[in-house]
Amino acid sequence: MNNIDLAALSDLDRPAHLRDLFAADPTRAERYVAEAGDLRIDWSKAAVDDSIMSSLLGLAASSGVEERRDAMFAGEHINLTEDRAVGHAALRMPRGSTFTIDGENVVPAVHEVLDAMGAFAQRVRSAGTIRHVVNIGIGGSDLGPAMAYRALRADRHPDIRCSFVSNVDGADIASVLADSDPASTLFIVASKTFGTIETLTNARTARDWLVAELGEAAVADHFVAVSTNAERVAEFGIDTDNMFGFWDWVGGRYSVDSAIGLSVMIAIGPDAFADFLAGFHLVDEHFRTAPLDRNVPVILAMIGVWYANGLGHDTKAVLPYAHDLARFPAYLQQLDMESNGKSVDLAGARVQNDTGPIVWGEPGTNGQHAFYQLLHQGTRIVPCDFIGFAHGNHEHQQHHDLLMSNLFAQSEALAFGRSNDAEPHRNFEGNRPNTVILAERLTPSVLGQLIALYEHIVHVQGTIWGIDSYDQWGVELGKELANQITPELIDEPQPDRHDSATNALIAWYRSHRA
Ligand code: F6P
Repeated sequence: MNNIDLAALSDLDRPAHLRDLFAADPTRAERYVAEAGDLRIDWSKAAVDDSIMSSLLGLAASSGVEERRDAMFAGEHINLTEDRAVGHAALRMPRGSTFTIDGENVVPAVHEVLDAMGAFAQRVRSAGTIRHVVNIGIGGSDLGPAMAYRALRADRHPDIRCSFVSNVDGADIASVLADSDPASTLFIVASKTFGTIETLTNARTARDWLVAELGEAAVADHFVAVSTNAERVAEFGIDTDNMFGFWDWVGGRYSVDSAIGLSVMIAIGPDAFADFLAGFHLVDEHFRTAPLDRNVPVILAMIGVWYANGLGHDTKAVLPYAHDLARFPAYLQQLDMESNGKSVDLAGARVQNDTGPIVWGEPGTNGQHAFYQLLHQGTRIVPCDFIGFAHGNHEHQQHHDLLMSNLFAQSEALAFGRSNDAEPHRNFEGNRPNTVILAERLTPSVLGQLIALYEHIVHVQGTIWGIDSYDQWGVELGKELANQITPELIDEPQPDRHDSATNALIAWYRSHRA
């Protein structure tokens, strides 16, 4: 392998047009494909050739990708700014296995919580009194369960629905409460810290609503908490007997497989939730053991590094051809952008290269009728990940064939284009890179595999960029200022604290609010 450094990426020769790469190498579609668990990953239409791949894998090796991966699995404190281990892989380890953090095997504690969740979920599923589960959380305490609940539509209990309230905008909780019957509603207050203002505000509103309808005594049967902070849960007024715990070594955006997934477990049942975790574990094991040149998260991560630092592509589109994965791009936005949207390295110095991309996307075929024009003919190149399945989770085969033919067509059209010199507006230049991820069916296990794949891509890229993918200090300043401004909207304004534009906004709001 060819050893280069990150800065040298932009000096590498650009690969030929994808048309020429395929013409020159009839084996490309076979060689640039691998399996991880049940996922078939095809990067043959990525903008790379053998020489670039060799440089990228050399860079991965020389940047310590294997060492940092091993450090994560060894429970070392690789989250340096928070001095914490990064243990989400422990959440999906089989019973009886070992994952040591701070001298303790955490797997028994993980399964103790899973067992408690399983018993609770089973009770809710069979008792017949709860018909509506409302998860109140935000960020990692919302996006993961909301995405997975939607994705696993086909596996859900037929008589229990879940809603997800996250936004502090009262419209969110108001619309859910308007559609809830207090006697048959269970609220799950999900917050790692139990200090997040949006979640606590929504939870208080929900609590007041329930107490007004059913009285204080009903809280015990209609509220549970998921948190790492028992003290704050008790302070809020939820008995800690009704709390499911997790640990500070689980990052919020890496927590859907912890007790944060309780709503999903109630919806799909403990056995299917175990399949979900087993799916994560399959890909964890692939990532932990496969050599770099067959390690799919490493390969895809390095291709992403090439796009960011070699070719200067700023964004990446994730395009699931599965309506049930409609929230997957939003989920990945937090996973990727909160992890790798950083500009200082682990030593506190300003990074010299671009870091994480802007992640966005919508399910196919809807996106085709909105933004694909730019993907095909715009001046900016947007690398795309297509995700599709052999079977739909419904009985409408004709729809599924149409859906998948669109996925294949888009991938082909982007890569190869179609020349039309006579009519430039009809010219498709092609050479627009994309990756295709396929699996038999969107099952709980396959969903776990997909999430783990992206988690590890983010991890590897964070290693290459030398940043802490597991902190999120960038969200703090806005929170702090909002906390200062809230009383100024109601009581006395404090103009000395702000710039003139912010003072004008506050003054406008105060006068109109009145
Ligand atoms: O957005 C910042 C953040 O800290 C996320 O990392 C986290 O997922 C979210 O807020 C919610 O935090 P909590 O689960 O502690 O309420």
